[in-house]
Amino acid sequence: MNKSFKKWSLFLVSLTTFGLLATIYLSSATAGNETLSNSAKVVASSDPISYASVWDRETEPDYSGTLDMIVYRSPSCGCCGVWVEHAKKHGFQIEDIKTESIAALKQRYNIPPELVSCHTAIIDGYVIEGHVPADDIKRFLAQKPQLAGLAVPGMPLGTPGMESGDRKQAFQVLAFNDRGEVEIFKEYQSY
Ligand code: CU
Ligand code: CU
Repeated sequence: MNKSFKKWSLFLVSLTTFGLLATIYLSSATAGNETLSNSAKVVASSDPISYASVWDRETEPDYSGTLDMIVYRSPSCGCCGVWVEHAKKHGFQIEDIKTESIAALKQRYNIPPELVSCHTAIIDGYVIEGHVPADDIKRFLAQKPQLAGLAVPGMPLGTPGMESGDRKQAFQVLAFNDRGEVEIFKEYQSY
């Protein structure tokens, strides 16, 4: 290994380290700040795929149904706002309702307790619970299924507003019916 190559690789290593530190700092400093954490894509990793996330992907072209969606969320939940921005980016018209009685609302809409997440959205008579990707909502609605809705239970790390550096927690989009029966609609291992 010659000297200038060594120097060069040392420079690259420190650049990567700095990038990683900056990413960690940014994601912790902007946690709860919807606008900033949403745009904080300062990723110095060697994995370029993380940019082409499902969250940025083009919308399904063959959905022509309603885009009017009501979103109920707690005023204290930061990640919900970032998910709302994601939905808007994909064409949904959001009526954004902040409520303290979000738990009662989930009961009223018959959401199976094990599928509960932070926010609850209603569109075309269906329930969309949690961080469901916009494309999946459109794909689901286009099928007009005999189901109650879709859910991404909990708040997986790596979904909008839940960014944690490069971490992408695998998650499932689950479909459920009025009887509380659940099936897998889509699975994300990496995104
Ligand atoms: Cu949340
Ligand atoms: Cu939420």
